[in-house]
Amino acid sequence: MPTLMPHLVELRDVHRTYRRGEETVRALRGVSLAVDAGDFLVITGPSGSGKSTLLHIMAGLDRPSSGKVLLEGNSLSAMSDDDLTLRRRRGIGFIFQFFHLLPTLSAIDNVGLPLLLDGLGPDEIRSRAGQALERVGLGNRANHRPREMSGGEQQRVAIARALVIRPSLILADEPTGNLDTASGADILQILRDAPAEFGAAVVLVTHQPDAARPGERTLSMRDGLIEAATVAG
Ligand SMILES: Nc1ncnc2c1ncn2[C@@H]1O[C@H](COP(=O)(O)OP(=O)(O)OP(=O)(O)O)[C@@H](O)[C@H]1O
Ligand SMILES: [Mg+2]
Repeated sequence: MPTLMPHLVELRDVHRTYRRGEETVRALRGVSLAVDAGDFLVITGPSGSGKSTLLHIMAGLDRPSSGKVLLEGNSLSAMSDDDLTLRRRRGIGFIFQFFHLLPTLSAIDNVGLPLLLDGLGPDEIRSRAGQALERVGLGNRANHRPREMSGGEQQRVAIARALVIRPSLILADEPTGNLDTASGADILQILRDAPAEFGAAVVLVTHQPDAARPGERTLSMRDGLIEAATVAG
């Protein structure tokens, strides 16, 4: 009998409701999707349509109000916050629009931070963080602080920090939103290489409706729902 492999991440009829004073905001209103190893998925949609909320739920940074989230077949609702933190640190790389680097740390120390938190020794951290910086073309900027770098360089440091753990899932929320066209293209290329390079799945949130290349899957969101699922031709 064939074994059924669980999806890397699966959402089943996920709702997320926020309370804002008297008001109730329905950020997600029943979203179902599955992501597998090696996938490259683009999520697009207008401001407020629920893209970031969806990404945060996939990362386990937020929990749904109802519906099911499965991480490699394991239900998120059955996981403690500690368990979830550990899974996230070891398996999920998150890239934000505003980089989220620590200003007082050098590039290499920012990149090495997830490994430090995971208890690795200083030599291994330096070596792996150095390799990740090389990978994004910043091997010569290891000792620079974020404020000494351009926006595109800071975002590449943030990508190196996401890649250093060799994540099975990379979630990027508008990673090129604050960059010029050329820097943005560099960033997207690094993300596009990740599935073939080490089997990671990549989910890219972007405002650009035409971000997908031929063969890539796009989910268009509107008002907390997936409005359309297409494969670029
Ligand atoms: N913590 C929160 N508390 C209350 N409402 C929230 C919270 N986070 C998100 N929302 C609301 O949920 C809806 C979806 O927000 P979300 O950030 O997911 O949209 P988005 O598609 O990422 O938008 P953008 O393109 O502007 O980043 C919005 O109406 C937003 O105001
Ligand atoms: Mg957003």
